[in-house]
Amino acid sequence: MLSISFLAILLVASAASETIPKLNCSTDTHAAGVYVNGSVHMNDNPLTHFDAPMTDGFNITSGEDWSFEAVSADALSGMGFTFSRGTVAGHALAQRMFLAVAWPNGTRFIEFTFADVSTIEMCDNMTRGRWYNETSGMNWTFEASKDYSSTVVTVQSSTVQGTITLDAISPAVYPNGRLYPDPLGDNLFAPALYWVENVPVAVAKANLTIRGTPFVVNGIGGRERNWNSFAWAEISARWDMFRAQIGPYTLMAWTFESKIDGKAYFSGVIMEGKEVIFQTQTQEPSEDTTYGSLTLQNNGAIRLSSDPSSTTPLPESRHTGYLLELVAPKTGQRWRFEMDYTKCVYWFAAGADGRLGGFVGAIKGGLVDGPQYNGRASGTAMEKN
Ligand SMILES: *[C@@H]1O[C@H](CO)[C@@H](O)[C@H](O)[C@H]1NC(C)=O
Ligand SMILES: *[C@@H]1O[C@H](CO)[C@@H](O)[C@H](O)[C@H]1NC(C)=O
Ligand SMILES: *[C@@H]1O[C@H](CO)[C@@H](O)[C@H](O)[C@H]1NC(C)=O
Ligand SMILES: *[C@@H]1O[C@H](CO)[C@@H](O)[C@H](O)[C@H]1NC(C)=O
Ligand SMILES: *[C@@H]1O[C@H](CO)[C@@H](O)[C@H](O)[C@H]1NC(C)=O
Ligand SMILES: *[C@@H]1O[C@H](CO)[C@@H](O)[C@H](O)[C@H]1NC(C)=O
Ligand SMILES: *[C@@H]1O[C@H](CO)[C@@H](O)[C@H](O)[C@H]1NC(C)=O
Ligand SMILES: *[C@@H]1O[C@H](CO)[C@@H](O)[C@H](O)[C@H]1NC(C)=O
Repeated sequence: MLSISFLAILLVASAASETIPKLNCSTDTHAAGVYVNGSVHMNDNPLTHFDAPMTDGFNITSGEDWSFEAVSADALSGMGFTFSRGTVAGHALAQRMFLAVAWPNGTRFIEFTFADVSTIEMCDNMTRGRWYNETSGMNWTFEASKDYSSTVVTVQSSTVQGTITLDAISPAVYPNGRLYPDPLGDNLFAPALYWVENVPVAVAKANLTIRGTPFVVNGIGGRERNWNSFAWAEISARWDMFRAQIGPYTLMAWTFESKIDGKAYFSGVIMEGKEVIFQTQTQEPSEDTTYGSLTLQNNGAIRLSSDPSSTTPLPESRHTGYLLELVAPKTGQRWRFEMDYTKCVYWFAAGADGRLGGFVGAIKGGLVDGPQYNGRASGTAMEKN
């Protein structure tokens, strides 16, 4: 009798463990205002999963971000949002959510909200993040599969409710164009600035209600991680960054000027399906290594500008888009892409000497002398005075 009831208990236990599978997770929680004195370790191990926390706690200058963007298929609306922990835009030791959107008619919404705690749960098959403020009821979450293929974001706050999904169409890459995981991947892009592309380009869908008004995007987007020893305004003099989907290609381009060493850093990556087909971090023309350039253009119709409803507008951007040229001398292949802004998503003062913008755009180009395509892009720019 004893053995039968023991067996029954085992059966019940195994049935229960099948219906409610046990997740094997480690949890990393940070509360606003909590810090350590002195240096914190910034993770430079290329094999660390891109969604994992990348610092051992925060000191009063360090921070880390999970940043997202999306552009609608008609390039008339766009959005950007970032989950941040640590020091961000003059707020030391914050747990901040940033959200900016632009509707097709140019109406914008921008919001900076602060959580009490942020939690990252690293589980066997997924990573879950949650930024939560019990008082305001703000609850932003993301759930990303371990292979980066699918990301689901949920938002519940007094101003914004809904869901955003990213289904990856390109692989997770380091700024040196290696695919995750790779011991030769390098996540340090510039002094004190780490950067990886969890989802360079994805099919993006957003279905939000913002102050009672629907905001819907069906288009493309992507997401990335940064972790910095100091606030952005301390380390960057200026930058231009975008992601795009065009014909068979997806691509990433970033130029960054460091305030720490005064040098300009560059990364250009072209992907086709789940493969990187071109990569460079070199801006000097060369006869044997790949190189490229991202040049400001000034011949388009749309500039980055303050919200039309602003009573104290900032100066508009001095440029209207980019020319991206990428060259592989060994194969003789030369890519040329022109990207024009189609809408400004946000444009605000960044530090004492700059402006920060989010944009969506239309891109055209391809291999020089090859088939030419049209596509969509989204990105960010920091312009100095
Ligand atoms: C849980 O994950 C840890 C870390 O990856 C691993 O060492 C451990 O074996 C896992 N446990 C189970 C029960 O899967
Ligand atoms: C950091 O150092 C300051 C100055 O010595 C001290 O007042 C503060 O309590 C320290 N904070 C922590 C978290 O150790
Ligand atoms: C915080 O940690 C970073 C990374 O180790 C370090 O560079 C920076 O100097 C530290 N900041 C402070 C205030 O100690
Ligand atoms: C622009 O679109 C938004 C969102 O649909 C709407 O709430 C707003 O009233 C529109 N503004 C104008 C001036 O038409
Ligand atoms: C949480 O939200 C409340 C209400 O909006 C706000 O007063 C508080 O400062 C927020 N918490 C943090 C840590 O910012
Ligand atoms: C926060 O949102 C997540 C995802 O929708 C949900 O599972 C969780 O219960 C919410 N937490 C609170 C306190 O509302
Ligand atoms: C991870 O596994 C849990 C438990 O089996 C499941 O509920 C969840 O949907 C899975 N998540 C992903 C992203 O695969
Ligand atoms: C968007 O969300 C609303 C509210 O949850 C829902 O009624 C609607 O069906 C959703 N639309 C799409 C396109 O998913």
